[in-house]
Amino acid sequence: MKITFYGHASLGITINDVNILVDPFISANEKASHINVDTLKADYILLTHAHQDHILDVEAIAKRTNAVVISNFEIVSHFQNKGLEGHPMNHGGSWDFEFGMVKYVNAIHTSSFPDGSYGGQPGGFVIEGEHKNIYIAGDTALTMDMKLIPMQTKLDLAILPIGDNFTMGIDDAILASDFVECDKVLGYHFDTFGYIEINHEEAKRKFFDKDKDLMLLDIGESLEL
Ligand code: NI
Ligand code: MN
Repeated sequence: MKITFYGHASLGITINDVNILVDPFISANEKASHINVDTLKADYILLTHAHQDHILDVEAIAKRTNAVVISNFEIVSHFQNKGLEGHPMNHGGSWDFEFGMVKYVNAIHTSSFPDGSYGGQPGGFVIEGEHKNIYIAGDTALTMDMKLIPMQTKLDLAILPIGDNFTMGIDDAILASDFVECDKVLGYHFDTFGYIEINHEEAKRKFFDKDKDLMLLDIGESLEL
């Protein structure tokens, strides 16, 4: 499993030649100006919630690639009405896709579309690939529901928001890492806007002091699991 950070909360995940994009918000992210949205591959697009900073590039990418949008019922319906392919889910539900099992799990946040219309309830994803399992938390507060995840899935990586203000910050992300029983964390949802700028060295040191590993990728950089 290869995971590429496209800035903010945008990820590319490749599992056995299947390309998955998560929360594509790239074209308006000045920090990601070196990423060309028009060449990104996507067989599936996973969306955690309906906020602009998670769905901005969905239509353009899906119309070009015919990618299937996977999200909650309201978000998938919204994009199906625009002619995109979709697979609706809801919290607690899982489905076996060609690349692995996806479960839509709880997040504490909000989920309106940019025009204010209802985007369902926000979520995160657990993905059980052929060999590796990951948790993509989405935008969320620290929540006790995270403790449910390791009851069913042994995680190899937890992807957690760390920017604070709109989501968990570093200290809560460390607790979240305890809750999901995974000490290997990829941080996301930081630095994009002034509200969520973080001190990278301090963040890494705080994780290190708890015997945990916080990875922060450059935009466009990948890690292999
Ligand atoms: Ni959000
Ligand atoms: Mn967000």
